Amino acid sequence: MDRQALEEGARKILLTNLRQGVADWNGREYSFVCPSLTGYPFQWFWDSCFHAIALLHLDPDQAKAELRTLMSGALPNGFIPHIIFWEMEKQPDFLSRNIVGQVDPHYSSTMQPPIIAYAVERVYQATGDEAFKNDALPVLTNYYRWLRGARDPDNDGLIAVIQPEEAGTDCSPKYDEALGLTELSNQGFIAALKKVYEAYEPMRGDDHAMLAADLFHFEDVLVNSIYAFGMRSLARLHGSGPEADEFNQQADRTTNALLEKCWDEDAGAFFDMSGVAEEPVKVVTISSLMPLVLPDLPRNKVERLVGDWVSSSDHFWTPYPLPSVPASYPKFMPGNPRGFIWRGPSWINTNWFLSLALRNHGYSELADAIVAKSHECIERSGFREYYHPYTAEGLGARDFGWSTLILDM
Ligand code: GLC
Repeated sequence: MDRQALEEGARKILLTNLRQGVADWNGREYSFVCPSLTGYPFQWFWDSCFHAIALLHLDPDQAKAELRTLMSGALPNGFIPHIIFWEMEKQPDFLSRNIVGQVDPHYSSTMQPPIIAYAVERVYQATGDEAFKNDALPVLTNYYRWLRGARDPDNDGLIAVIQPEEAGTDCSPKYDEALGLTELSNQGFIAALKKVYEAYEPMRGDDHAMLAADLFHFEDVLVNSIYAFGMRSLARLHGSGPEADEFNQQADRTTNALLEKCWDEDAGAFFDMSGVAEEPVKVVTISSLMPLVLPDLPRNKVERLVGDWVSSSDHFWTPYPLPSVPASYPKFMPGNPRGFIWRGPSWINTNWFLSLALRNHGYSELADAIVAKSHECIERSGFREYYHPYTAEGLGARDFGWSTLILDM
């Protein structure tokens, strides 16, 4: 598939999945791409950021509209939801198959990995649109301050998530123990999650209370890598002055905390910490590699991650890398997960992050190989939600939005 064919395929998906209108419930106009018409017909936070980046290669105005729509969902306290249900009539069907933490029926009261400032920065760089940047800056500033104020109760620079979906890697095996997961299936996962939801019920919306309850409290490496990465973008968008200093300092704190608290020298990888007691969760997953997105990650850590994990065929270097958990892990499930996701297949969004990261650290051949393999997955199987790491078989949702990130790779 050449560039043109890839662009045509991506354009078809982004246009078909485009949702536009005026919401019945708040009278606001919306214009965004939903991840998939069948499985995910609403606006998802990090998906939207990825869609905007892909759209830069096809339709920069739509990239702006995508992010403007997402930012229009910000609450006065700064919070931006992980799902916004612009078209409420589709909600009953979705909620019959999924559970969502909510205090308001129109959006989730949970977060997703905070990549938005980077997406805004990319759109601004590509379009030079000052008005777009100036409108975005207060929303982004409030949002990253909300994260710090609401999600870092121990003030160590690392923010915590209150349920797995907030980290974007829903059923990752790293959460099994914290969830008390015994039945290894999507049904088992939902059942375990329901218990957490029930206990949260009286506290929903009070993030401090939920974190203090210590029911599910993860200082997640993927989330915090993206948090630091996003704050660097926000600092650059501010240019200079007190806000730029504020977010650079916070990005330093988060990076240092990842290094001091999450790095495991024996494993040569980063581990999440679970609970108020900060117990390291010694399960290597794709998250363990995500600090590579930080340009200031010390060289010795970069070399361990790349040498021991990324490029090792025992672990992440499968025929179609990078699997969401390494092939060496006993619970690795490479194919047909039936909704039990992030336990083996390879995803284009994490390949996008890691190809970018590896290129920045000087591993251009490795980055090129990830791009070529991602391209091959799409060529063989179309724009799917995720792919079999041995065969490139397409799995999960069809015509899936963020797989169009290939255009940016
Ligand atoms: C799944 C993924 C999550 C994504 C959502 C919509 O829940 O785990 O990361 O945002 O689908 O595509």
